[in-house]
Amino acid sequence: MQQSRKRCVMILLWAIIWVFLFMEEGANSDPQHNLLISACSQYNVTNFKDFSTNLNATFLKLRKELRNNNYFATADQAATYTMVQCRNYLSSSDCLACFDAASIRIRKCSAANGARVIYDGCFLRYESNNFYTQSTGEGHTMICGNHTASNPTSFNASLGGLLNDLQVATPRIDGFFAASKKEVSGNKTVYGVAQCIETISKSGCQNCMAVVYSDIQQCPPNSDGRAINWGCFLRYSESPFFADNQTTDIAPFLKNEGSSKKDALIGGLVGGIGFLLLVLAVFFWFRSSRRKQMEPRGDILEATELQGPVNYNYRDLNLATRNFSLENKLGGGGFGDVYKGALKNGKVVAVKKLAIAQSLRAKADFESEVRIISNVRHRNLLRLLGCCSKGAELLLVYEFMPNSSLDKFLFGEKKGSLNWKQRYDIMLGTAKGLAYLHEEFYLRIIHRDIKPSNILLDHDFQPKISDFGLARLLPQDPTHLSSKFAGTMGYTAPEYAIHGQLSEKVDAYSYGVLVLEIISSQKSSETNSNSDDKFLLKRAWSLYENNRHEELVDETLNGSEYDAEDVRKVIEIALLCTQASAASRPTMSEVVILLRSEGTLNRRPATKPIFIESDKVVREATSASIGSSASYTSGSRPPSPRSLVAKSSLAD
Ligand SMILES: *[C@@H]1O[C@H](CO)[C@@H](O)[C@H](O)[C@H]1NC(C)=O
Ligand SMILES: *[C@@H]1O[C@H](CO)[C@@H](O)[C@H](O)[C@H]1NC(C)=O
Ligand SMILES: *[C@@H]1O[C@H](CO)[C@@H](O)[C@H](O)[C@H]1NC(C)=O
Ligand SMILES: *[C@@H]1O[C@H](CO)[C@@H](O)[C@H](O)[C@H]1NC(C)=O
Ligand SMILES: *[C@@H]1O[C@H](CO)[C@@H](O)[C@H](O)[C@H]1NC(C)=O
Ligand SMILES: *[C@@H]1O[C@H](CO)[C@@H](O)[C@H](O)[C@H]1NC(C)=O
Repeated sequence: MQQSRKRCVMILLWAIIWVFLFMEEGANSDPQHNLLISACSQYNVTNFKDFSTNLNATFLKLRKELRNNNYFATADQAATYTMVQCRNYLSSSDCLACFDAASIRIRKCSAANGARVIYDGCFLRYESNNFYTQSTGEGHTMICGNHTASNPTSFNASLGGLLNDLQVATPRIDGFFAASKKEVSGNKTVYGVAQCIETISKSGCQNCMAVVYSDIQQCPPNSDGRAINWGCFLRYSESPFFADNQTTDIAPFLKNEGSSKKDALIGGLVGGIGFLLLVLAVFFWFRSSRRKQMEPRGDILEATELQGPVNYNYRDLNLATRNFSLENKLGGGGFGDVYKGALKNGKVVAVKKLAIAQSLRAKADFESEVRIISNVRHRNLLRLLGCCSKGAELLLVYEFMPNSSLDKFLFGEKKGSLNWKQRYDIMLGTAKGLAYLHEEFYLRIIHRDIKPSNILLDHDFQPKISDFGLARLLPQDPTHLSSKFAGTMGYTAPEYAIHGQLSEKVDAYSYGVLVLEIISSQKSSETNSNSDDKFLLKRAWSLYENNRHEELVDETLNGSEYDAEDVRKVIEIALLCTQASAASRPTMSEVVILLRSEGTLNRRPATKPIFIESDKVVREATSASIGSSASYTSGSRPPSPRSLVAKSSLAD
């Protein structure tokens, strides 16, 4: 009895499997795992075994979601966050196949604490922090095809319309996916799809779309192109890559916002679809409320969105700063002048008038960048309170710091007034702020311009780093190395100055220089007349080598305030940070640990820093910030980093 029942079940199972196999064969399957991007984080997890267990568990959850005919899923366990998304035009078996390929591929990153694999058909990403609400950021890119469209002029025209429609409609469509096509004269068609991840808001999707829309403009008149960003994807091609019946009717979403919803609703109801929707909605509501009881899966349902920055009124800011008067001017940073302002509610703020050339594209970018920056909160990072844009003018509103900036205390009118403990606290706080930007905020932010004038001091002389994230507002032109260069000579890591190679270690280098300046009160770009080795970095190294490092300490400091071992430790950290090889510099979180460690370090700077010293460099270095926005708006490019180092001796 038992036996025959078992056999029955077996036969049934076989039959089902065969049917499935047959169906797979019959359908025109194409998981579209043409690889676009495969990238691993440069950091490894600390505990590989736990990580691997978590990753495997989350991948299982993702797969389960996809098998339930979902095209988007997130899953997390411990500190492992994962996300998968298939293009909605794939069949659900192709979606699974694409995910499987991606999950195999992504393991090539072995112990990396973050990775993403992007195919035409799907993408898979994991991180050790929650990235679900990330819509845009550095690392967006485009991939253009090799062939020119057969009829460039009319292709361009049709493509322009198609991409614009997709950009406008996609954020307005439930599920953030649209597939559309447009006729090109000469019996051709151009096909396009756009998609956002489902855990970002509508405005997040709009921001992301604005970036990919602009990126993909570099592809035509090539017959196909793709633009990739953290929270969205845009693709077009002259050859069809989705079935005709997968086309989205985007017309209702192209109308002006107000009317479109109403129209769609009325249209739907008249067509009797409304009733169906109602039934479906009740069904899904029922299902989701049941599922909620069974397993909490908060991430999609309770996606915490980035808070938008406060939008200030231009008239209020104008009033607060007394018409941006000279008396209210606090200083002129690399990105524009800063004014002190007293708002109507009595709150004192600092208003930065950005001097960044504004184009239409910059505007969309500006808003999304400001949103990101205003969500960075750390006690050692200056808070961005809000922004304001009026015409071409862009204003940023920050908290006001009564003690102004560190340079005043090191080189300026208040020179010599910081004691050793205050200096040490500034080093530690700055390191913590940078570690947060590099490793803890959900987006990696590289400051690129760490120097004393960007370290502000609060009433208690605790440091707050300012201007972070602003480098992201600079135009990014991949063909011009020099335009990527946003830093200040004397503080800029050689690999960035010379090759434009940007990583967190660029900030670590500048931080090392900053620490030496804090100890010595000598500007890195100025010479010390009492010493043979005039420049700070070289002087520090040779004093250290000869065990005379205490001589580096600012003479105004009382010798009884500090401990010789502490001085040695701090100098060693600074020299570790300024090593020529970016890879051997410590990360900023390591710096925090080293600074807090007792006694001497067991890690010695192995290699000398690179010394850049030529008259030319010195002159340019002291002549202010390179890459400051002012030099962009005035039309003259900053001097090429190549020319800056051409004459310098790169002593080893
Ligand atoms: C990360 O781990 C991989 C192998 O597990 C190793 O090859 C690589 O060097 C490690 N990277 C770092 C930065 O430690
Ligand atoms: C996770 O899955 C991979 C591939 O399937 C396997 O090689 C690895 O051993 C698994 N790790 C753990 C901890 O189970
Ligand atoms: C473009 O052409 C080159 C060489 O012909 C080939 O290696 C490359 O894969 C092509 N790229 C694309 C996107 O088709
Ligand atoms: C098509 O547009 C691209 C830029 O979008 C442009 O470089 C190209 O010259 C245009 N081609 C024609 C034939 O208009
Ligand atoms: C368009 O092309 C198809 C097949 O390529 C052909 O059957 C059709 O007649 C063409 N139409 C025109 C208007 O050229
Ligand atoms: C779309 O068309 C394909 C054949 O091209 C067919 O197999 C599939 O069932 C259709 N899908 C829908 C939703 O009608």
